[in-house]
Amino acid sequence: MKLKNKLIISFLLIVLLPVLMVVIVYFGISAYMSVDVLRDIVVRNPQLQEFVVDMMVAFVLILIFTAVVLSWWTYTSIVTPIQRLQKAVQYIKEGKYNFSLDVKDTHDEISLLCNDFEEMRQMLKETAEKNLCHEKEGKELVRNISHDLKTPITSIKGYVEGILDGVASTKEKQDRYLKIILNKTNEMNSLINELSLYSKLDTDSVPYHFQPLSVKDYFDDCAEEIGIELREEGMTFQYENFCKEGTKILADAEQIKRVVSNIVGNSIKYTEKGRGHVRLSVMEEKQFVQIEIEDNGKGIAKGDLPYIFDRFFRTDESRNSSTGGSGIGLSIVKKIVEDHGGKIWATSEYGQGTTMFILLKKWTGSKDDAAGKDEDSRK
Ligand SMILES: Nc1ncnc2c1ncn2[C@@H]1O[C@H](COP(=O)(O)OP(=O)(O)O)[C@@H](O)[C@H]1O
Ligand SMILES: [Mg+2]
Repeated sequence: MKLKNKLIISFLLIVLLPVLMVVIVYFGISAYMSVDVLRDIVVRNPQLQEFVVDMMVAFVLILIFTAVVLSWWTYTSIVTPIQRLQKAVQYIKEGKYNFSLDVKDTHDEISLLCNDFEEMRQMLKETAEKNLCHEKEGKELVRNISHDLKTPITSIKGYVEGILDGVASTKEKQDRYLKIILNKTNEMNSLINELSLYSKLDTDSVPYHFQPLSVKDYFDDCAEEIGIELREEGMTFQYENFCKEGTKILADAEQIKRVVSNIVGNSIKYTEKGRGHVRLSVMEEKQFVQIEIEDNGKGIAKGDLPYIFDRFFRTDESRNSSTGGSGIGLSIVKKIVEDHGGKIWATSEYGQGTTMFILLKKWTGSKDDAAGKDEDSRK
């Protein structure tokens, strides 16, 4: 039976029961006194008659009023919120989360239940939005990976067919084809490596080994390696470190090296051969250490700059050029810097060059410097 019907029945009972009692009392009295005696008493006392009628009417009116007020109060404080809850449950069943359960906070059990329900709805909404976002990202990921893998595979297939069909008739031609196949295979290999690293970082399954690093020693070593690499590429290199001897950062040495070499790798890739120059500067900025890597490469157009740290983003120019790349490099870099509690951004002048800026918090030895992560490892 519905709550509403139960309320109507209890309303009727509240009113009818006392009336029934009065009737019973009346008949009870009649059973002990003869009707004539009773009539005599009443007829002889018209005031008593009036009084009894008035009392009865007042009694019934008070009863009706009390019953109406009680039923209305019960109805609004129980039935109305329950009806709203029922509607809300229906919405959730249909996968709709964009509503809000407006129930007055009266601190009773029903309003507490409604508050809990509202919290649950918000959590479900957030989870559903996250799932949708992941689903979208997943689809985009599959589309990008298939595109990036398909390009080298198509060309490998073409060159292998060329060798099999005898198009590459001479030894030199065959060697050239095989070299191209090797390059394409390497390209695929590095794409797969980057992808697997990105997915590990994304699922937080790369263990970080945070340790205090001397900014001077660490970047001196880094600069030495970068210098060798850049000179091999025919580029010039300038290194400045303005940090005091004892300045330290709390970082994972291997991952920060990955960050720097990824950025320098881009400088090599996106700078014209023979005239490239890279400058690495490290300085103190209040409680941070700022690392700047500047190149005089082709630069990034203003419209593209906000997106370069996005996964799979490559400028149209890079996509159409012969330089390989997946567009994952800078998203890995950003993830690592942010996992260190740091910040990364870039400025660029199209046709002039690009500068990457990284801020890492100085390590002072206090517990607050733990880079937002467990000091030694993430898991
Ligand atoms: N130093 C740079 N000079 C010019 N363009 C750059 C530089 N660094 C990054 N870019 C642009 O940002 C895009 C994203 O970089 P990245 O994530 O490393 O991907 P990838 O190098 O694989 O293309 C590059 O495709 C390129 O268009
Ligand atoms: Mg790159």
